[in-house]
Amino acid sequence: MKKVQIGSQEALVGEVDELCRALADEVEALLKSRAGEGKPAVLGLATGSTPLPFYAELIRRHREEGLSFANVISFNLDEYEGLGRDHERSYWCEMWKNLFDHVDVKPENVNVPPSVAENPDQAAAEYEAAIQAAGGIDWQLLGIGGEGHIGFNEKGSSAESRTRRVTLARKTIVDAAPGFGGEENVPTHAITMGVATILEAKRVVLMARGASKKEIVHRAISGEVGPDVPASFLQKHGNVGWFLDDDAAGS
Ligand code: GLP
Repeated sequence: MKKVQIGSQEALVGEVDELCRALADEVEALLKSRAGEGKPAVLGLATGSTPLPFYAELIRRHREEGLSFANVISFNLDEYEGLGRDHERSYWCEMWKNLFDHVDVKPENVNVPPSVAENPDQAAAEYEAAIQAAGGIDWQLLGIGGEGHIGFNEKGSSAESRTRRVTLARKTIVDAAPGFGGEENVPTHAITMGVATILEAKRVVLMARGASKKEIVHRAISGEVGPDVPASFLQKHGNVGWFLDDDAAGS
């Protein structure tokens, strides 16, 4: 793994395994220091294919090294509207399948925006309030969408945006279609943490893998900061980490 300067930002570039170990080291250090203080660690977590090997590394550390998640409060970034928790493509289901079912997190400490809510605007406001009530997010993991979205903050999302109901971009729906057996089955709306919500996390890490992400990753890291590429707002965060495999970095 090496440090690579891209524009004003420093990225960590290497093999996926190395990146996942470095990310897991950050989480492990946080969990241990919070346990020492007798306080919970608040993790912001992401779905998508990108973080899967990182979650596998956390599970391995839990099983083989006894890393405990009993002191974790988690908030996921986003959730599709209308699927319901039991739907296998819901982010609720994906998170349990890929992480929570395999570690000792307390179910009552797991938070994912509701997929079905009588009043989505109110549900979004309550989610935002729950993050504040937990003391804010200590460590936020992000992937990046094909057009530079973080969570479901699509192109056009402002730096002041908060947790809210959003309409998914065409590209997001096309990218998600294979997992849903066709575009017509992909939800058109979601609830997502806002850009401002994400930027308030004490530490933010963005992980990107694969050549298909290379161009958008570079626009996010060294392009103009603004709503055209919502991930670019991270350039303004004082404690951001960019974790890129060689293909995403283009090195
Ligand atoms: C979805 C999620 C994002 C994720 C993105 C990229 O849109 N809402 O949080 O970063 O997909 O997914 P992948 O990691 O599979 O490329």
